[in-house]
Amino acid sequence: MLTFNNEKLKNSLRCPVCNAKMDISVSDCATLFCNGTKKHCYDFASAGYVNLSRPGQSGGGDSKQAVRARSDFLNLDYYAPVRDCLCNLLCQRLEQSADTLVVDAGCGEGYYSNEIAKRGFALAGFDLSKFATEAAAKRAKREGIESSFFGVASVFELPLCDGSADAVVNVFAPCVDAEYSRVLRDGGYLVIACAGPDHLLGLKRAIYDEVHLNDTRADMPTSLKKVDTARVKYEIDLTSNAAIKNLFAMTPYYWKTSQDDVKKLDGLESLHTEIDVIFEIYQKI
Ligand SMILES: C[S@@+](CC[C@H](N)C(=O)[O-])C[C@H]1O[C@@H](n2cnc3c(N)ncnc32)[C@H](O)[C@@H]1O
Repeated sequence: MLTFNNEKLKNSLRCPVCNAKMDISVSDCATLFCNGTKKHCYDFASAGYVNLSRPGQSGGGDSKQAVRARSDFLNLDYYAPVRDCLCNLLCQRLEQSADTLVVDAGCGEGYYSNEIAKRGFALAGFDLSKFATEAAAKRAKREGIESSFFGVASVFELPLCDGSADAVVNVFAPCVDAEYSRVLRDGGYLVIACAGPDHLLGLKRAIYDEVHLNDTRADMPTSLKKVDTARVKYEIDLTSNAAIKNLFAMTPYYWKTSQDDVKKLDGLESLHTEIDVIFEIYQKI
């Protein structure tokens, strides 16, 4: 959990209600309050995250079950090359310092966020799902990471001051061009993960009779300058039905596949599939 020794992070948070800058209570070190006239307060939950969603926003994002499936799958580290590529892209472009703030927008259960924090950056992860945010904070605690902060918040209204972030990363979460651009400093980077054409082809073949390559993401930014692209492509072999079903539950196919097709995964104990992730890197010029 963030100790709030991190000045950069402390100076970057803003109140989701009145947009005033935030500070931490000196008396209990577990309450954030804003410097606006109404002094809005936000307590850290015991798991180590803070609910910074605007009134009426909470309750969205991934369910507890979806978060558990994602955590169980990611903990097997099949996505470690994707995670490492993302971290390396940041390290190549930014100073690895506690004064460099990386924001993980739609951070899920913190698989990517906490690795970014381990590389020496200050990390703020936001997700609309309370379950995901809680899991991300618990992962930080488990791994002894003190430079990450997790808050429940919508990526459409991040509780961050204008120009406060050195980078925003977005891994398979909604991409909100205007909001990411607002929180980025001039020269800051937006790194977006997109499913490449072959991503999860083997999984799709196991489910569908007819399989198509993935299209490009429709929600790419238009207000930032695209400066680079990196592709991570490899193949994995899953060796248990639980891993196959957890991977399936992480994908958009989970929501749009017929029960008859879903049943094809029952009893499947091994699966060979492609991983194909393209990182698009944008800069605020
Ligand atoms: C496909 S998951 C990706 C999670 C994580 N980035 C990862 O790759 O492990 C998408 C995440 O976006 C979150 N999400 C969806 N809509 C959101 C919103 N409006 N604001 C913040 N998070 C949102 C979901 O709760 C979920 O955790």
